[in-house]
Amino acid sequence: MLPNLLEAKKRTSNKVKNYKYIKDDRYKEVGKNKTYYIKTYGCQMNVHDSENIKALLEEMSFSEVDNMEDANLILLNTCAIRENAHNKVFGFLGRVKHLKETKNVITGICGCMAQEENVVNEIKNKYKWVDIVFGTHNISQLPRILSDSINNNKQEIEVLSCEGDIIEDIPVKRDSKYKAWVNIMYGCDKFCTYCIVPYTRGKQRSRNPKDIIREVEKLIKDGYKEVTLLGQNVNAYGKDLELNYYMGDLLRDVAKTGIDRVRFVTSHPWDFTDEMITIIKEYDNVMPYIHLPLQSGSNRILKLMGRRYTKESYLELFNKLKTISNVSITTDIIVGFPGETEDDFKETLDVVNTCKYDSAFTFIFSPRVGTPAAKMKDDISLDTKNERLQRLNELVNKYANLNNQKYLNKIVNVLIENKSNKDDYLMGYTDTMKLVNVKCDESYLGKIVKVKIVGVKTWSLDGEIV
Ligand code: 5AD
Ligand code: SF4
Repeated sequence: MLPNLLEAKKRTSNKVKNYKYIKDDRYKEVGKNKTYYIKTYGCQMNVHDSENIKALLEEMSFSEVDNMEDANLILLNTCAIRENAHNKVFGFLGRVKHLKETKNVITGICGCMAQEENVVNEIKNKYKWVDIVFGTHNISQLPRILSDSINNNKQEIEVLSCEGDIIEDIPVKRDSKYKAWVNIMYGCDKFCTYCIVPYTRGKQRSRNPKDIIREVEKLIKDGYKEVTLLGQNVNAYGKDLELNYYMGDLLRDVAKTGIDRVRFVTSHPWDFTDEMITIIKEYDNVMPYIHLPLQSGSNRILKLMGRRYTKESYLELFNKLKTISNVSITTDIIVGFPGETEDDFKETLDVVNTCKYDSAFTFIFSPRVGTPAAKMKDDISLDTKNERLQRLNELVNKYANLNNQKYLNKIVNVLIENKSNKDDYLMGYTDTMKLVNVKCDESYLGKIVKVKIVGVKTWSLDGEIV
């Protein structure tokens, strides 16, 4: 089964099917005495998918190794959002090929690139040595696909270009013992003109609230301190269910479970309700951190992007969000969208100067095959795009630094989650999602502690336990 762009684009009113994952004991020894290595590219959704993939492989008796050279199975969980993500994967495949030739490892590609028709054709024709290819809709089928490829000794490509189902209870091996990703919805129906996600991840499908709450309650029992509710556009949660139950309701119910910290990503400005803002204010365990992609500050470009808001309505929402005490707001911005003039770009700088974001992810527009923007006339040179990106980044860095300066000598809550790059330090995040390196020992791991900020950099803070 190969991916098909026209199929991937389709949206019907068919009801989304909910299944429960059932372990198939036929595959439980396929990976006996074998190891796996998985490399993950892209967003949190992919990171979480890899947590599912790891657990599925371990159900098959594979065990994880940190070093690709030691693995019998190498899987690349890929991202399709921009061309450079593509290039990284094809570059990495060169290294994998060498291992395939020298020690005959099993190799596989999954994730968003596997959903792309042109990519899979390339793998079929030029990378015949890749053993398995599967997509974002059939992760739970991995045991069968892998086992078939081993038994038949041939390339197995199984990618579904459907709107997608919801599969509950896929096992998960979480990377952290303290903070967990929780999918609340899959897919996206916004079809912003530059974006490949609605094609690679299918139609918007919200999980049942009961299943989400059940998962959060289990995480609390297992000692988790933080959940991040995940979706391409979480604010649209529930709009595809017939329950009259939306993101505000879910946020409240998750907060009421009593888990220490609740976060959510990513928000589309279009669906952000006043009720959500009220709930963030009302519940101390809903963190005052919002990622609110702007993409462009020019109304003309926003229209071409199909973003469904204007600079003015974005700023109106932004100002409402700013009434949340101590809130931090970050964003995504694309420069060099087809036809972006210097004046359009200045509108973007203008919004950055108004919003003074805590941080921003900035990108040069990358045409994605099959999206409307890839067909738009683009006569801006790469030099101009690079120069705009640089100017934008300078401004973003300035405000990131100014915002961080405000933290000096302040006392903040940090969930200590891991070792830091600095010796004798551990790291964690504040309520407002600031990275803090904290001087403390490992007995603090997994605890939310009060920390005094004693040093400030543009992208991190240094702190001491108080
Ligand atoms: N080119 C550049 N950036 C893109 N993004 C999404 N699609 C593209 C593209 N084709 C950016 C958007 C989005 C973030 C996840 O990636 O800013 O919010
Ligand atoms: Fe892509 Fe727009 Fe959906 Fe975000 S909201 S995933 S940018 S189509």
